[in-house]
Amino acid sequence: MRGRFITFEGIDGAGKSTQIAACADWIRCRGHVLQQTREPGGTPLGERLREILLHQSMHLETEALLMFAARREHLALLIEPALARGEWVISDRFTDATYAYQCGGRGLDETKFRTLEAWVHADLQPDLTFVFDVPPAVAAERLAQGREATDRFEREQRDFFERVRAAYLRRAAGSDGRIVVLDATRSPAEVSAALLACLEARFQ
Ligand code: TYD
Repeated sequence: MRGRFITFEGIDGAGKSTQIAACADWIRCRGHVLQQTREPGGTPLGERLREILLHQSMHLETEALLMFAARREHLALLIEPALARGEWVISDRFTDATYAYQCGGRGLDETKFRTLEAWVHADLQPDLTFVFDVPPAVAAERLAQGREATDRFEREQRDFFERVRAAYLRRAAGSDGRIVVLDATRSPAEVSAALLACLEARFQ
C-alpha cells in the first residue's frame, strides 16, 4: 500500500518545528517507516539550491523556478520512491509555500505558478497539509525571542507576511479539505492536541 504524504506550512515564526516533531512521533508509534524532510532541500542538490534561495537575491520568477527545480529533484529522489515503498513522508513546506510566498508575497503570476505545479507534480498532492496560522505580529515576536533573522525571507516586512498569510488561507479555502488551518496563537500543547485529533480522524 502506498504511504502517506503530510506537509507543514505557515509564515516564518508560526511554530511548525514543535508540531512536526509531535506528528513524527504519532506516525512512528503506529509502526510506519517515516521520512522526515524539508523544502527547499531534502536532497544534496536541493540543499545546495536552498543555500542560494535563502541568501541570494534574484528575480521573483527565478526564485519560483528554483523552488520547483529543487522540488522536482526531491520528488524523484526521495518523496515518490518512499511513498511507493509504503513509507510515510512529512515535509516541512511544499508547493503551498510557493503559492503563499511567491504568488502571495512576491506577486508571481498565478497562471505561471499553476503551469509549474502541473509540470512538476500533476498527479500528486499531499494527503494532508497543516497550515499553522498566526498574525505576523505574533510570529515576529516569536522569531525575535528565538534568534536573529537568518535568511532573506525572515527579514521581509510585516506586509509581506500579511500577504503570505492571506494566500495560505485562500489556498486552504479552495483545497477541498486537504489543507487544515490550525490556530497557532494557542499554546504548543493545545496546537498539538488539535493536530493529533486531526491525524486520528483522517488516518484511523
Ligand atoms: P523555513 O522552512 O522557514 O526554514 P527555517 O525554519 O530553517 O527558517 O525556511 C524556508 C524559507 O523558504 C521560508 O522563509 C519560506 C521560503 N520558501 C518559499 O518562499 N517558497 C517555497 O516554495 C518554499 C518551499 C519555501
